[in-house]
Amino acid sequence: CFSPELLPLFKLQGKIAVAVDVLRATSSMVTALSHGVVHIAPVSELTECMAYKDQGYMVAAERDGVKAEGFDLGNSPFHYQEEGVRGRHLAITTTNGTQAIRLSRPADEVLIGAFLNVGAVADYLRKAGKDVVVVCAGWKGLFNLEDTLFAGALAERLEGDFELNHDATLAAYHLYQTAKSDLLGFLSKSSHVQRLERLHILPDIEFCLREDVYQVVPILQGDFLVPAQ
Ligand code: MLT
Repeated sequence: CFSPELLPLFKLQGKIAVAVDVLRATSSMVTALSHGVVHIAPVSELTECMAYKDQGYMVAAERDGVKAEGFDLGNSPFHYQEEGVRGRHLAITTTNGTQAIRLSRPADEVLIGAFLNVGAVADYLRKAGKDVVVVCAGWKGLFNLEDTLFAGALAERLEGDFELNHDATLAAYHLYQTAKSDLLGFLSKSSHVQRLERLHILPDIEFCLREDVYQVVPILQGDFLVPAQ
């Protein structure tokens, strides 16, 4: 079966977790690995992230939508399209996205999903044939629309291969059907889109809502995200 869940108490053992924070953490991670970053250490705390700098990592941090002071990079996917990232190692902490990855750890496998790689994630899951849970980052423990829409998009791609019979899955699927012809318009009143618009980063939002730009599927191996083989 296939189910998007928000609650950290949901049982993940025996399943594949797809951690998602469409705006913008997981979109940035997919972009970074697609543009040649070797691996990514997703961490919860700013100090933990900064400690990687001594090992030659690029360090990236976002809090409340803004780059944290003293870090090399923030959380815009455009930061990770620069030629300078190729061949580098990245440590990153964000408000919600890296927490969702931490909460996903009890799962058998942890993948990173975004609209940017939704087709590639669906292909991976189809081949793996295990139960799937989409771990939506939300915002500080609250439900959000964009991660639920991603779960709906993934459900649509997996229709016919997985049973889509959980209420949360059906809700996400139908929400995506309503929104998919104009995701940005649908999300215009959502809390995080309004937050990001106040920061004048509409291009980030538009980019993160594009589907199937990249083929990479980041997977957690120990403490690091690497491209799945
Ligand atoms: C997060 O982890 O909360 C975010 O990705 C926020 C953002 O930078 O848009």
